[in-house]
Amino acid sequence: MPEDTLFAEVLDPRNRADPYPIYARLRRTPVARQRDGAYVVSTHAAIRSLLFDPRLSSEDLPPSRRPPTGNPLKDWLLNPIKNRIANAHRPLIFRDPPDHDTLRGFVMSEFTIARVNDLHGRVAALVDGLIETCRGRDTVCLVDDLSYPLPVAVICDLLGVPEQDEPQFHAWATRLATALEPDARRDEEARRATVETFDAIADYMRALIRQKRRQPADDMLSGLARRGTRDRPAMGDVDLIATAVLLLVAGHETTVNLITNGMLTLLRHPDELARLKADPERAPRVIEELLRYEPPVHFRSRKTLGDIAVAGATIPKGAPVILLFAAGNRDPERFSEPDRFDPDRADIQHFGFGGGLHYCVGAPLARIEAEIALVALCRRLRDPKLLADPPPYRPGASLRGPENLGIRIAGI
Ligand code: HEM
Repeated sequence: MPEDTLFAEVLDPRNRADPYPIYARLRRTPVARQRDGAYVVSTHAAIRSLLFDPRLSSEDLPPSRRPPTGNPLKDWLLNPIKNRIANAHRPLIFRDPPDHDTLRGFVMSEFTIARVNDLHGRVAALVDGLIETCRGRDTVCLVDDLSYPLPVAVICDLLGVPEQDEPQFHAWATRLATALEPDARRDEEARRATVETFDAIADYMRALIRQKRRQPADDMLSGLARRGTRDRPAMGDVDLIATAVLLLVAGHETTVNLITNGMLTLLRHPDELARLKADPERAPRVIEELLRYEPPVHFRSRKTLGDIAVAGATIPKGAPVILLFAAGNRDPERFSEPDRFDPDRADIQHFGFGGGLHYCVGAPLARIEAEIALVALCRRLRDPKLLADPPPYRPGASLRGPENLGIRIAGI
């Protein structure tokens, strides 16, 4: 089969449970031009060099494949990601320098190590409470019971969203996460639902920001919404709303997948599960290897601002580029026995959190959540066994993770 159709196989939901053999075939051509003109980059070295190349832009999303209808209102409604989120409310993940760096500076000044460490106790209490709700049952549905409710509660806490509004945030996060998938962008109903969700969440945020300005509290949104001083200009309202929405979306589905993929992998490797249970100090190693072996984010899109020569190929100016992080993470040129889950391997330089300019700002928080959740699950679930292997997967190819993970237990 010619290489240029392989990425279509990656997008095919039937391959969701095990896309790694397709990635291995893609790696034979480190920069593979697809039929639609996109260039898929799949080796560790090529991805790494592009992540640090300023000629790669995050501003231009892949162009909509829909031809203009002649009705501007209809075009606008049917292309909400491109026309509304991308152009009007584009958050820092879709921005290039210098705007990106300014916005990232605002976020980093509030996303401090102290603030993240302060969440430690809250995360532990949430995890304990969620596991406790499974008492008396012989089956745990990990996504519904723990992986899903945990990150949204933590982000709400971080931002300063009142507890009673959390269920609403939960629903918004779900709808926005599915909207990020390439397939969803082509689906009309999904597009319309994204516009509505985005408007609802933006309205909510606008009101919450006003309230935080009137009555600042010790939370991230109050910090970001602070009025400007001579030394520190204020963040504009549009950027503030876009940032809050981004934190919700970027920090939710990803963390759900890390916890769920993590437990799935440990249940498939009972010796590693037993070692983590006996020695929770192993958690950081386990998490880093999970981010390499089963990353929550499989790829991200970019666009070239000029011709770029990489790995013996030239990507022309203006071409869409797909950085296939999950393939780079299993590159045998970079990792020995890449398909083996081995938390003891040295030098795990993975792309689980991306790299370069857009390296994940939430990485320390995600690590804390996953460590606390996985250690607690290993210690408290008695004799856990997978109900189905492979479990059912959600359709998303980029944010890839199980729909749910049934685990039979002998108690907690
Ligand atoms: C960026 C992964 C959790 C906020 C990224 C990127 C990846 C990633 C791969 C790079 C995107 C790119 O290069 O285009 C993950 C994973 C997580 C996680 C796997 C959990 C396991 C979080 C959390 C937050 C967060 C908890 C915040 C609450 C962000 C933001 C960016 C980002 C704001 C954009 C940074 C920029 O553009 O400079 N994340 N993330 N992430 N992440 Fe995360």
